[in-house]
Amino acid sequence: MSDKVNITLDGKSLTVDKDKTILEVAREAGIKIPTLCYLEEINEIGSCRVCVVEVNGKIQPACVTPVSEGLEITTTSPRIREARRISLELIISDHPMECLTCSRNGNCELQRLAEDFGISEITYEGEQSHFEPDLSSPSIVRDPDKCILCRRCVSVCEQVQGVAALTPNERGFSTIITPAFGQKLGEIACANCGQCINACPVGALSEKDDTEKVWEALANPDKHVVVQTAPAVRVS
Ligand code: FES
Repeated sequence: MSDKVNITLDGKSLTVDKDKTILEVAREAGIKIPTLCYLEEINEIGSCRVCVVEVNGKIQPACVTPVSEGLEITTTSPRIREARRISLELIISDHPMECLTCSRNGNCELQRLAEDFGISEITYEGEQSHFEPDLSSPSIVRDPDKCILCRRCVSVCEQVQGVAALTPNERGFSTIITPAFGQKLGEIACANCGQCINACPVGALSEKDDTEKVWEALANPDKHVVVQTAPAVRVS
């Protein structure tokens, strides 16, 4: 059986590997599709819906939809742009608009996408979730109010670092990414490696300027698990 399939991508006929996703095939063809929750080979869960495209007339997320024989894929249209925009507006509706005082200002993927889509105000106003920031770690500040629940930090911590310090807790509007059982980062065996900060697309995880306490943690490995920092995760 052939390991290739024939598809139509933005009007062009292509023969591509059948184990690829639409996002991978589009990128190989030089077509840019915006992403937010996606982290190549680490976090491919299709949660944000910013990467949607039209597949045989239906809106589907490109990052988790595999190619198959005969697919007709469109990556740009007013309908697609509107669907991506609504996804972004929904995410932003539960995100504090404090960009000017956020440590990720100018280096935030959500902010950049909002600019690309011309979103300058909250369309869907209503209740916002509110959680206390976690300042207990010697090196990492966790601000769940800014979290967009993409789970990139969860996947990097577990799959790349092998620590699994972070996990989704609760359900629905109360969902929060924390250490298990609602503990704080400073209470668990966090490696203080900072890879979760690298993976976070917004300002939900940031560095803490508390160098002395980091050294203390490194000097007391029985109290805090200390591991070598892995190479920085490539964010794509
Ligand atoms: Fe595809 Fe988030 S990037 S669903």
